[in-house]
Amino acid sequence: MANRIHPSILNANLAALDDEIRRIPSAHAIHIDVMDGHFVPNLSIGLPVVECLRRNHPDRFLDVHLMIEDPDRWAPQYAELGVQSVGFHLEASQAPIRTARQLRSMNCRASLALRPQTSIESVADFIAEFDQILIMTVDPGFGGQKFLDSMLGKIRRTREIVDASGADIWIQIDGGVSEATIDRCVDAGVNVFVAGSAVFGAPDPDAVVRALTEQADRRSGGRP
Ligand code: DX5
Ligand code: ZN
Repeated sequence: MANRIHPSILNANLAALDDEIRRIPSAHAIHIDVMDGHFVPNLSIGLPVVECLRRNHPDRFLDVHLMIEDPDRWAPQYAELGVQSVGFHLEASQAPIRTARQLRSMNCRASLALRPQTSIESVADFIAEFDQILIMTVDPGFGGQKFLDSMLGKIRRTREIVDASGADIWIQIDGGVSEATIDRCVDAGVNVFVAGSAVFGAPDPDAVVRALTEQADRRSGGRP
């Protein structure tokens, strides 16, 4: 399972997103944070902007992370735009399995996101309904927060549950990922890394993407 770096554009120049996305050609995907000011205390962008990004960057993998109420209603509308992955929070969903199945039926990867305080155990029985588990390693809502080391146990348990399921499920983390924290996440079993401020806070964002990719690959060695 190859390592992937998905830079979050939340801390990029939101008024010049096309230019910002062109600055990271080595990124494996563009991570787009959608916030509604209710599920999290912050407001970012929504469907109309994602629709433009889809049109302007037809060859990029778009990884949408919904931090919104009522994702069962909204998630399919993002899939409709042709994004490759839609992540929604278990805590906000009334019907996570139905929503995941709907996303998959639209040829979109279904990603289940968990706040730091939500355990993975409640999901174990139906984990194969998802293409990705997104473990938040900060409280969602803002970029630039400190990585929560206390999430490493949950990541390890998620890796065990995923491997036991036999399904090809990516494990993504989001929050506080940098060259200082990525090694311990590789060791715990992560293969998809969202990094916001570490990438867009640097003078050369693509150099950071390449460095993080190399570091993760080196650390995971010949991991299948
Ligand atoms: C936070 C968002 C993240 C955020 C990550 O709620 O989901 O994607 O942009 O930013 P960093 O990497 O700075 O923690
Ligand atoms: Zn995110």
